[in-house]
Amino acid sequence: MCFRSHVPAALLFFFASLTGAQTLREEASRAGILIGAAANVHYLSEASYTATLAREFNMLEPEDAMKWEALRPDEQTFDFGAADRIVAFARTHNMKVRGHNLLWGTHNPDWLTRGNYKPKELSELLHQHISRVVGHFRGTAFAWDVVNEAFDEKGRLRDSIWYNRPGIGAGEEKAYIEQAFRWAHDVDPDALLFYNEAEAEEMNPKSDAIYAMMKDFQRCGVPIDGIGFQMHIFNLSPDLPSISANFARFSELGMKIHITELDVALPVAPDGKVLDTVDLERQADIYRKIATICMRTDGCTAIQTWGVTDQYSWLGWATDKTKGAGLLFDRNYHPKPAYTALRQALGGRTRKPD
Ligand code: XIL
Repeated sequence: MCFRSHVPAALLFFFASLTGAQTLREEASRAGILIGAAANVHYLSEASYTATLAREFNMLEPEDAMKWEALRPDEQTFDFGAADRIVAFARTHNMKVRGHNLLWGTHNPDWLTRGNYKPKELSELLHQHISRVVGHFRGTAFAWDVVNEAFDEKGRLRDSIWYNRPGIGAGEEKAYIEQAFRWAHDVDPDALLFYNEAEAEEMNPKSDAIYAMMKDFQRCGVPIDGIGFQMHIFNLSPDLPSISANFARFSELGMKIHITELDVALPVAPDGKVLDTVDLERQADIYRKIATICMRTDGCTAIQTWGVTDQYSWLGWATDKTKGAGLLFDRNYHPKPAYTALRQALGGRTRKPD
């Protein structure tokens, strides 16, 4: 399937102006799609941060506060403090909460990774973790990234403490992933359960492997509802027809699609300033086209950016400050061309929300 803009831009403007929506959030709720942001508890005391979140987004996901590293200071303790604050903010502002994440090979606490646990002990720890965490947020987290980034770029399972080092079921391939989904479903059968992945938005060996796994899970009755495409875009020429075709095949499989961590990284100076302002237009165009692909794919029900303002984006940390400015709001919370483009792309179409 090829990506083509069937609706001329001028007509999209017309639809957007017809809806009269002033914010992304208004536009998204009219369009029947969720628009989210990852949030960090450190900034909840900053007025511009909270005002922008509450005004523009109807979904929230803790950027770090639900990771093992944050929730589990030691083997005995669960510290829900930071995550609870984010959830409370979301509830106050009538935003849905996405949980992220229950199982990942990184961002685990040292006591876990250096603990020399045996497979059976690890399995018990994971079961207890999933039960406790999903139970704690039952009724508030409507969706979970159950497993994060299990595959490498060749479509092979990554080595990890949960898979094979030592793993909770050595030699059983995807059994550990299946097990995590079953445990999460046991505790909250109403939550939507997602497999979340980086660099799987295009047709490639990684997305092929995930597709095969999900098809297999479906056949075996594993409780899985969808795929999260992270969509950290570092290349200003993403293969849009390939993204569109990939979205279509997961949707046709009956999977929901959430874009979970969208940002479009631009080359920046060490102070975060965009090097070439033309890039802001290229970035806007990518946001518009990605949102349009989502709007045209039946199963695609949520678009979430990985942060709010460029000021606090993870991109600087991830690229040694060479790239950044990937979000919808600049360092002073001014909406960028990408904001306008995304809002327009959401306009003019009604969808069935999650
Ligand atoms: C990142 C956070 O943004 C950072 O604050 C943290 O230091 C590292 O993790 N894929 C994911 C996210 O699934 O959890 C990562 O978030 C970004 C890549």
